[in-house]
Amino acid sequence: MSYLIEARNLKKHFTLRGKKVLKAVDNVDIAIAPGETLGLVGESGCGKSTVGRTLVGLYKQTAGEIYYKNENIQHLDKQKNREFIRKTQIIFQDPYSSINSYMTVGDIIAEGIDNFKLFKGKERQERIYELLELVGLNKDHTTRYPHEFSGGQRQRIGIARSLAVEPDFIICDEPISALDVSIQAQIVNLLSDLQKKFKLTYLFISHDLSMVQYISDRVAVMYLGKIVETANCDSLYSDPHHPYTKGLLASIPIPDPEIEFSRSAQVMTGEITSPLNPPPGCRFSTRCPLKKQICEEQAPPNVPISDSHFVACHLYT
Ligand SMILES: Nc1ncnc2c1ncn2[C@@H]1O[C@H](COP(=O)(O)OP(=O)(O)OP(=O)(O)O)[C@@H](O)[C@H]1O
Ligand code: SF4
Ligand SMILES: [Mg+2]
Repeated sequence: MSYLIEARNLKKHFTLRGKKVLKAVDNVDIAIAPGETLGLVGESGCGKSTVGRTLVGLYKQTAGEIYYKNENIQHLDKQKNREFIRKTQIIFQDPYSSINSYMTVGDIIAEGIDNFKLFKGKERQERIYELLELVGLNKDHTTRYPHEFSGGQRQRIGIARSLAVEPDFIICDEPISALDVSIQAQIVNLLSDLQKKFKLTYLFISHDLSMVQYISDRVAVMYLGKIVETANCDSLYSDPHHPYTKGLLASIPIPDPEIEFSRSAQVMTGEITSPLNPPPGCRFSTRCPLKKQICEEQAPPNVPISDSHFVACHLYT
């Protein structure tokens, strides 16, 4: 199988003041096929954004390899590296902070076009109009400023800005978490339409399993720097294996008090542990209701449940 982007044994450790090492991403394998959407889910601080930033070279990895179109990104020549930077984009959570409020919408969208010298003059202007239309805005918006727009519209501007450089891989890092619930579906639908139109490949990051369900082909669940379960969307939601995935699913509210009550027994206890001080063995062992002795001693290997469903837990070894 040929992947668009792949990471093997990816580690990103931050050395903090006092020389403490924070293992934000620790031995993560990720592979995304062209045109596919991989959802990446886990609680705040588990390392999702760090995976994303490291994958596209914004952070240099501590160890491991990253391949883009089967080429190790560390060994790209200057021209290919520039191409890689153009072809891999990130859409950020907060459209307010990721957009320069002193620039007009047109100039914001054209930043990449100018950086990569893609179009000039009239063609540049036409391209801006085209991009605005693609994301559901219009020509008149070109000369306006971001503060004149709603959160959802600002996210559309952010999406247009990413699309401007004709990427093939986009990391959507919590693109809808800051938006009103009523707007979230519109943005997800837009991302989905654009994906079909331009054959885009997505890594869709969210702390909420229910948010990634509709857009993802596969989902990877992350806990404290590690991926604990990966499966096709259907399989993950209908047949979760890892106790953490089960806990996350159980915390999605169901509007039926009886089901809600019967599920409450599965809910995890305790807070996420700090990646500065992860427990030995399985990192989830401090919160796992099914913990065995081996869990505190050995890290569980990643084992296949089926061709496309993997889980890292001693219950299945
Ligand atoms: N530049 C950095 N320097 C030091 N530590 C960092 C840095 N970036 C992230 N971290 C730490 O790495 C861990 C993972 O952070 P990351 O932002 O990747 O998590 P996340 O899953 O994206 O969380 P959230 O859902 O809140 O966005 C956290 O403990 C965070 O404090
Ligand atoms: S390896 Fe053990 S502690 Fe970790 S999730 Fe599985 S049962 Fe729980
Ligand atoms: Mg994040």
